Amino acid sequence: MQVHFSKKRKLFRLDTEHISYLFRIGPSGELRHIWFGSRIDDDAIIEEFAVRRGTSSFSPHPEGLSPEDSLDLLPLEHSTYGAGDFRITASALRKENGTSVTSAVYRSHKIFKGKKKIPGLPSSFSQSKDSMTLEITMEDGFSGAEIILSYSVFADSDVIARSVRVSNPTETVIRVEKLLSAQLDFHSADFDVVYLKGMWAKERQAVRHPLIPGIQSFSSSRGATGHQYNPGIVFAEPSASEKAGDVYGMLLLYSGNYIAEAEVDQYRTLRALIGINPENFEWKLEPGETFYAPEALLFFSAEGLGGLSRISHRFLIDHVIRSPWVHRERPVLINNWEATYFNFDDKKILKIAEEASKLGIEMLVLDDGWFGERNDDRSSLGDWFVNRKKLGNLAALVRKINDLGMKFGLWFEPEMVSENSNLYRKHPDWVLCVPGGRRSIGRTQMVLDMSRRDVVDSLFRSISSVLHSANIEYMKWDMNRNLTEIHSRLLPPDRQKETAHRYVLGVYELHERLLKAFPNLLIESCSGGGGRFDAGMLHYAPQIWCSDNTDALERISIQLGTSLFYPSSSMGAHVSVCPNHQTHRTVPFSLRGHIALGGTFGYELDITRLTPDEKDLVRKQIRNYHHWNRIIREGEFHRLTEGFGRSDFAAWCWVSPDRREALAAAVRKTSEPCGINPPVHLRLRGLDPEMLYELDDHRRAHGRTLMNAGIRIPNAETDASSILIHLKAV
Ligand code: GLA
Repeated sequence: MQVHFSKKRKLFRLDTEHISYLFRIGPSGELRHIWFGSRIDDDAIIEEFAVRRGTSSFSPHPEGLSPEDSLDLLPLEHSTYGAGDFRITASALRKENGTSVTSAVYRSHKIFKGKKKIPGLPSSFSQSKDSMTLEITMEDGFSGAEIILSYSVFADSDVIARSVRVSNPTETVIRVEKLLSAQLDFHSADFDVVYLKGMWAKERQAVRHPLIPGIQSFSSSRGATGHQYNPGIVFAEPSASEKAGDVYGMLLLYSGNYIAEAEVDQYRTLRALIGINPENFEWKLEPGETFYAPEALLFFSAEGLGGLSRISHRFLIDHVIRSPWVHRERPVLINNWEATYFNFDDKKILKIAEEASKLGIEMLVLDDGWFGERNDDRSSLGDWFVNRKKLGNLAALVRKINDLGMKFGLWFEPEMVSENSNLYRKHPDWVLCVPGGRRSIGRTQMVLDMSRRDVVDSLFRSISSVLHSANIEYMKWDMNRNLTEIHSRLLPPDRQKETAHRYVLGVYELHERLLKAFPNLLIESCSGGGGRFDAGMLHYAPQIWCSDNTDALERISIQLGTSLFYPSSSMGAHVSVCPNHQTHRTVPFSLRGHIALGGTFGYELDITRLTPDEKDLVRKQIRNYHHWNRIIREGEFHRLTEGFGRSDFAAWCWVSPDRREALAAAVRKTSEPCGINPPVHLRLRGLDPEMLYELDDHRRAHGRTLMNAGIRIPNAETDASSILIHLKAV
């Protein structure tokens, strides 16, 4: 890893083991992007990349410079609004005189060891000897604001972490209308774009298609990342596959309104941007203040989509997820939601725990309905005290569960309030709404104004008092509707557009405070399943409930789509009952186990009603989980089929860091008559070619054979057939 500045060439160079990132200072102080990709040398040759020809009077240039210096032509590090670059831009700062025209002119830079935290926001971390940061101060010549770009590189990963902040050293107010976290200008637009789309119960379905001229973007204005898209974007050369080809990625560490944009311009080059969604956003910067935009990670792999995913997984585990649980085997849990919904009492919960403990399950998670007077979803959110009528004394119940050898976890939905709740009756002004205006209700609940300190303080007090009251080792943090009528009663009119971002800062602050008070608390994040599955949330919660859709066949494309950026150890996955509650489909119990094994693993069904055969399978699945979780948690993940699990046959594998062990899973969704499914030779990846491996049936083969020829997968005789293959070096 190194960061270097050549005074002679005015050129910045960042290198990690396999990648280089270069840019230089241009004649008007602009930063011209030169290269991002595989490692290269010879600055002099590639310096020319920062020059583009093809000028016209319609691309004006800075006075005193040549037409080739038009900002409309150049590949830039940080483009600004209104000063000659007509493509999508990264920033717009409005001054007192009303203009939003902005420039970014190099003033100074510093290079230092380590990496700073971003105040109030999640950010990647490292030991100071393991990372280096380049900070460049640019000036907006129109307002005097400082735009500070930050680039960090890491000793152990091919990732560049970027962020940006704006400081106001002037005497007057400056308004940040737009400040995107990272810009990547490419010299060509010959890429497929890959991203994750979805909806509730069908999150993160990977899509891939060629870029076309014009702007393509996806975003959220829901106040959370949302089920619909995910804040990450990938550009893959058209021939790139899971295993080969140049692939670039951008991933935002943020859980609120974001945008990812790609513009193919008139010169058939590509500009990509990612950051806070500028729609209905603005931040008032008083003299002396600084605004921090969230961090974005830039990835590059020459080893295809699979290579990019592995870089992202490793980086999130090593540098983003800060929970002490990240490297620990998570307890096998049983969640009562699909078993009981709201219909439970302490006796029923204890019965589930007793049965579960006999089978080897290690933690009971009590889901929605334990608090206030909540017997359905129409009341009590915000009343975070135990419903004694239903549960008696919570501490006593938890003790009984602990006596069974099990841990105990509890569900909360901190950000919400029901109209029918003590909290709302006492503080009707605490919700987001436009005073005197119409308001929207979702699941009969309203959203608390998390931008308010008094709201965050009160939630901290009520939630920590429950967490102190019993031995609660896990918290499921849910969020079941999106934000509407985003207006905060405490903010003045000219700061209302700050509310959505301040909301997210409040959510992060509550996480910070709870984790400071309960450092070992295992938080599983959730938002109607995977409606807020992002790297920002993962900073605080090492796992996120992947989807409310627990159908094992549906989960394949959900989990493989999620794996574009996020590691298996971050995906909440449970075995649930059939017919499945979301799709009404019935699939074998063994398949449900194979799919849940690919996440944090647990059960979400009425365990007291399982047949003896199913109970035997539960015991076996839990044994497998203990045997294999280390590989799944810490190993390299390879998707063995193209298409992110959306085709009929899908397979994937994990390989242990020392390559001595691997676990592969393969699923065929539908069977065909007469065994006409072509025989599949499943070619594994990531093994050591020289090593001799033994399969569970004692057959032996070298890594080379297993990767080049593969293993024959039996024909499917029924729908939804699956197989797990375990290999160990001998
Ligand atoms: C959301 C979650 C579910 C469950 C319910 C409870 O939908 O995703 O897992 O916790 O809320 O209301």
